[in-house]
Amino acid sequence: MNASPHSRRHGAGHWLAALALVLLTGSAQTTEPDYQRARYDPIHFQPAIERATDAQCLACHAEVLKPSVRPQSPAGVKAADAKAWYQETSTYEGAQDTFHRRHLQTPMARQLMTMRCTTCHQGNDPRDETPLSSATSQRLGGFTLRKTVVPTETCLKCHGQMNHAIMGLPSPWRESKAAFQNNCLLCHAAIRTTRHAVNYLNAKAIEAAGAQPGTGGDVCFGCHGGRAWYRTSYPYARHAWPGMADEVPDWAKGRPTASELRFLSDALNPTSQGAPQ
Ligand code: HEC
Ligand code: HEC
Ligand code: HEC
Ligand code: HEC
Ligand code: HEC
Repeated sequence: MNASPHSRRHGAGHWLAALALVLLTGSAQTTEPDYQRARYDPIHFQPAIERATDAQCLACHAEVLKPSVRPQSPAGVKAADAKAWYQETSTYEGAQDTFHRRHLQTPMARQLMTMRCTTCHQGNDPRDETPLSSATSQRLGGFTLRKTVVPTETCLKCHGQMNHAIMGLPSPWRESKAAFQNNCLLCHAAIRTTRHAVNYLNAKAIEAAGAQPGTGGDVCFGCHGGRAWYRTSYPYARHAWPGMADEVPDWAKGRPTASELRFLSDALNPTSQGAPQ
C-alpha cells in the first residue's frame, strides 16, 4: 500500500527473477499432475471413487479401453489359434480382446451390460499393502488390495457355477439342457422373475436375448455357469416374485432379499433400463 513506485518495480523484478528460476529448474507446480500426485489422486479411494464417472477415470486411463491384444505372442503363438474353451461357445464373437474391452466395449457387453469402472473398482486404502491390514479395508469387504476389486463379490456373480441342484435339474446344465430345449425360461418365466434390476445390467435386453429360440439358454448360461472361473456358485439375493411360496427352502435361509444398495442407484448410469417388471 505505502510502497513507493521504486520499491514496487523492485518487487516486480524479484517476481520475474523467481519465475525465470522456476521455469529453468522446472520446480513449479504445473497443471499436469505428476506421477505420485496422480497415483494418490483422491479419486482412487473411498469416498470419492463411489461418485466417479468413467470419463473421470478415462482422463488418465484411456489405455485400458484401447485394443491391445498382440496378433501373436513373443513365442510365436497366434492369438487366433489360441482360443480357450469359453471362447468356443455360441455366444463368443470376434477376435481375442482384452479383459476391459470384453466387459465394456464388445457387442455383447454393450447389449447386455451397463458396467462402469466403479462397478468393479471400489477403491482401497493406500496403507493397505497387505490384505486386511487396515480398518477401512475391512469395512469395504476385505481382500481388495491394489487393483481394488473384490472377486468373490464381483466376478463370481457372472463367473460362478450354475447351482443346478437347487433348481431340481436332474444333472448339470450341459447334460440336461437338451431335455429343457436349452431354454431357462421354461421354468424362469414363472420362477424368480424379479431379477437383474441392478445398474450394471441391461435387464430388458437380457430377457429379450434369453427368449430367442435355440440360443437363449446360452445367453443366460453365459453368466450363470457357462463362463465359470470358480468352482462355487454365487449366493444370489432372493427377491420375492409374484406367486412365490411363503416357505423359504433351507438353502435360501439367511440369503438377502434385495441386491446391494450400491447397485440400485441409476443416478450415475442413465443407460441402464431397469427391471423388466
Ligand atoms: C489424475 C490421473 C488419474 C485418475 C483421474 C485416475 N487414475 Fe488410476 N492411476 C493413475 C496413476 C498414475 C496410477 C499408477 C499407475 C502405475 O503405477 O502404473 C493409477 C493406478 C490405478 C490402478 C492400478 C492400481 C495398482 O496399484 O496397480 C487402478 C486399478 C486405477 N488406477 C483405477 C482408476 C479408476 C477406477 C479411476 C476412476 C475412479 C482412476 N484410476 C482415476 C492415475 C489416475
Ligand atoms: C469387470 C470389472 C472391471 C471393470 C468394469 C473395470 N475394471 Fe479395471 N480392472 C479390473 C481387474 C480385475 C483388474 C486387474 C487386472 C489384472 O491384474 O490383470 C483391473 C485393472 C485395472 C487397471 C490396472 C492396469 C491393468 O490393466 O491391469 C486400471 C488402470 C483399471 N483397471 C482401470 C479401469 C477403468 C478406468 C475402468 C473403466 C473404464 C475399469 N478399469 C473397469 C476389473 C474391472
Ligand atoms: C455382470 C456380469 C459380469 C461380471 C460382474 C464380470 N464379468 Fe467377466 N464376462 C462377462 C461377460 C458377459 C463376458 C463375455 C463378453 C464377450 O464375450 O464379449 C465376460 C468375459 C470375461 C472374460 C473373457 C475375456 C476374453 O477375452 O475372452 C474374463 C477373463 C472375465 N470375464 C473375467 C472377469 C473377472 C475377473 C471379473 C471380476 C473382476 C468379471 N469377469 C466380472 C460378464 C461379467
Ligand atoms: C426345471 C426348472 C428350471 C430350469 C430349466 C432352470 N432353472 Fe434356474 N431355478 C429353478 C428353481 C426351482 C430355482 C430356485 C427357486 C427358488 O428360489 O426357490 C432356480 C434358481 C435359479 C437361480 C438363482 C440361484 C440362487 O442361488 O439363488 C439362477 C441364477 C437360475 N436359476 C438361473 C438359471 C439359468 C441361467 C437357467 C438356464 C441355463 C436355469 N436357471 C434353468 C428352476 C429352473
Ligand atoms: C450379463 C450377465 C447375465 C445374464 C446374461 C443373465 N444373468 Fe441372471 N443374474 C446376473 C447377475 C449379475 C445377477 C445378480 C443380480 C443382483 O444382485 O440382483 C443375476 C441374478 C439372476 C437370478 C436371481 C434372481 C433374484 O432373485 O434376484 C436369476 C433367477 C437369474 N439371474 C436368471 C437368469 C436368466 C433366466 C437369464 C436369461 C434370461 C439370465 N439370468 C441372464 C447376470 C446375468
